[in-house]
Parts: sequence; structure tokens; C-alpha cells
Amino acid sequence: MEHAPLIDPFARPISYLRMSVTDRCDFRCTYCMAEHMQFLPKKELLTLEELDRLASAFIGLGVRKLRVTGGEPLVRRDIMTFFRSVSRHLDTGALEELTLTTNGSQLARFAPDLAALGMRRINVSLDTLNPEKFAKITRWGRLEQVMQGLQAAKAAGLRVKINSVALKGFNEDELFDLIHWCGEEGFDLTFIEVMPMGDLGEEDRLDQYWALDDMRARIATRHPMVDLAERTGGPARYVKLTDTGQKIGFITPLTHNFCESCNRVRVTCTGELFMCLGQEDNADLRAPIRMAPDDDGPLIDTIRAAILRKPKGHDFDYSRQSIAGQMTRHMSHTGG
Ligand code: GTP
Ligand code: 5AD
Ligand code: SF4
Repeated sequence: MEHAPLIDPFARPISYLRMSVTDRCDFRCTYCMAEHMQFLPKKELLTLEELDRLASAFIGLGVRKLRVTGGEPLVRRDIMTFFRSVSRHLDTGALEELTLTTNGSQLARFAPDLAALGMRRINVSLDTLNPEKFAKITRWGRLEQVMQGLQAAKAAGLRVKINSVALKGFNEDELFDLIHWCGEEGFDLTFIEVMPMGDLGEEDRLDQYWALDDMRARIATRHPMVDLAERTGGPARYVKLTDTGQKIGFITPLTHNFCESCNRVRVTCTGELFMCLGQEDNADLRAPIRMAPDDDGPLIDTIRAAILRKPKGHDFDYSRQSIAGQMTRHMSHTGG
């Protein structure tokens, strides 16, 4: 590492960068986007070269894990050029993990190339196994296409983790179907508590919210489980079902806050650095990138100054029967 590592005011080392490469998506998941989104004009976006420069600067500052997000990252034009170039940091050992969070729709096309450049594991968002419900929650998605993508990922040797947002009255009845299907396919599975992000015009988070404590107790009625100490670098805490050997993760921003061990920051596709998913404060990294095309100095100074403002955590809270800490920013803006 060329420089001193990034440490925030709460002594948390920042080793994980989530980088959104596009605000666009071929789906419109109801809890993530409005149906009619105003997308950014191309000139606002960081170019593929600028994305590479940014990722490389963070790697120089001690980032060991890079997760590419969106929108849907695989709809960004020519995104494989970026992956190929940034994968050089895997070859040198500077980067430990290069990975992706995707809706799976484009995996049939890209999985072999992703595996070939050194990606080992991907996270695929999937909330239901029912084609009609899938069409409803994603508004524009087709389950069949995602299933084909998942098979392609498996065939390419990529390890898959399914991310399901736990939604009361939506996928509650599919809990054991999801678990059994993941078991059969050899996929890990992580459930996420729904967070109050985005303009919630047509959504009611309190009605949707399914606390994972309750889910866990429900799983325990059918499967014996033990807590695992194992971590994947993100906020999930895992259990192992001892009868099937499966691993299930829980991401619990509401019931068990995990901010104290936060190791990550996010950059949007226009170069805004968000120090916390659940807070507004951000820093513009595009200006120092464009201002000094051949000198990373100003960029690095801006990153360091921003990390010194990283907040303690989010303020999401549903416990008073109302929504606190809501962010008007959509989840797709920062890629989750
Ligand atoms: P791995 O541990 O590598 O599997 O990744 P991950 O869980 O960090 O990545 P993934 O993209 O699968 O994250 C799943 C979801 O967890 C995100 O989309 C967010 O909704 C949520 N999440 C991740 N990091 C944070 C965080 O710092 N704060 C909060 N509140 N939620 C987060
Ligand atoms: N609350 C929790 N998770 C969400 N995601 C999108 N919106 C929300 C929300 N409001 C999840 C997606 C995907 C990841 C990028 O974030 O399902 O798995
Ligand atoms: Fe697209 Fe993912 Fe948001 Fe769904 S959750 S609209 S797939 S970015």
C-alpha cells in the first residue's frame, strides 16, 4: 500500500468499497425505485476510465474488497472493460475480492467472463420463486431470465448468494421454499430487513416490515441451527442449519444494528462518496478527478477528509410504530 490506511473517527478501518456503475436498471423493484425514474444524462456519469482510477485510488488506500453495484451493474455499456482492467489488482494481490451485486438478468451473457477474470462469488437479488409475484415486485422483470442467469453462474463456477428482502405478506409464505430451493441449488441465502429508503409514496414500510428475529424463530421450528462466527466482510451474520448444512445470513439494520463494525463506504456512478447508507452527507469525488487528470493527490485528499466525517451509523427505526431515519434517496442511487 502506497499510503496510510483509511481509519474513520470511530477507529473503524475502511477496507470495503461498494461502487455503483450506473443508476439504471432493467427492473423497477417497488421497494427500490419509482416506476418512472429520471435517469442521469451520460455526461454526469464517471467514464469507465474514471471508475477505474477511483477504484484504484481506494485500493491504494487499503480497500481489499470491491463490490460493483448499480442500479443493475451489468446494464452499463461495456462494463466488462472496467471489470477486466480493475481485475489487475486481484492479480497483484492488492485486492482480495472483486464481486458484484446483481439482479441476475444479464448473467447468462456475462457469467463466464466474470469467472474468467477472477470473480469467485456474486450476490443475486431474488425475493420470490413465484413468476407472477416476481413480475409484480420487479414491475419489469421475468423470473425465467434470472433463473437462466443463475444456472449460467453456477455452470461458470461462481459461488452464488441469494439476497431476499424479507417482506411481510409478500414472501413470508415462501420462507421454507426459498431455503429448500437454495439448498438444492447449492446457493447461500441472506435475508435483509426492509429499510426506509426512497420516496415511499405507494409503499408502507411498516406494513411490509418483517423483523428477522421473528423469521429466525420460525426457521428454528423446522431446522436446528447454530450461529457461525464466519463473516463475508459485509453486515450479514450467518447461521448454519445443522440438518441440511446450509448457510443462512441475516442483515438486520433494524433489529440488530451492525454499524459499529462498519468497514465500508459507497461511491455512486457520478462520483459521490457516501460515508453511510443511512445518512445524507457525501463528498464529490468527480471534481478532483476531472480537475487533476494526471494527479491523484486532490482525489486522495478529498477521500481522506470525507472519511473523517463518517457518521456513527444510520438512524432507521420503526420501534415507535412510525418510521424514523427515512432517506428520500432511493436504494438504487447508492446500490444498497
Ligand atoms: P457480502 O457480505 O460480501 O456477501 O456482501 P454484502 O452483504 O455487504 O453485500 P450485498 O450487496 O449483498 O448487501 C446486501 C444488502 O445489505 C445491501 O443491499 C444493503 O441493503 C444491506 N447493506 C449492506 N451494507 C450495509 C450497511 O452498511 N448499512 C446498511 N444499513 N445496510 C447495508
Ligand atoms: N431495503 C432493504 N433492501 C433493499 N434493497 C433494495 N431496496 C431495499 C430496501 N428498501 C436490496 C435489494 C438488493 C440490494 C442491492 O438491496 O434487494 O438485494
Ligand atoms: Fe434494480 Fe436492484 Fe433496485 Fe431491483 S433492487 S430496481 S433490481 S437496482
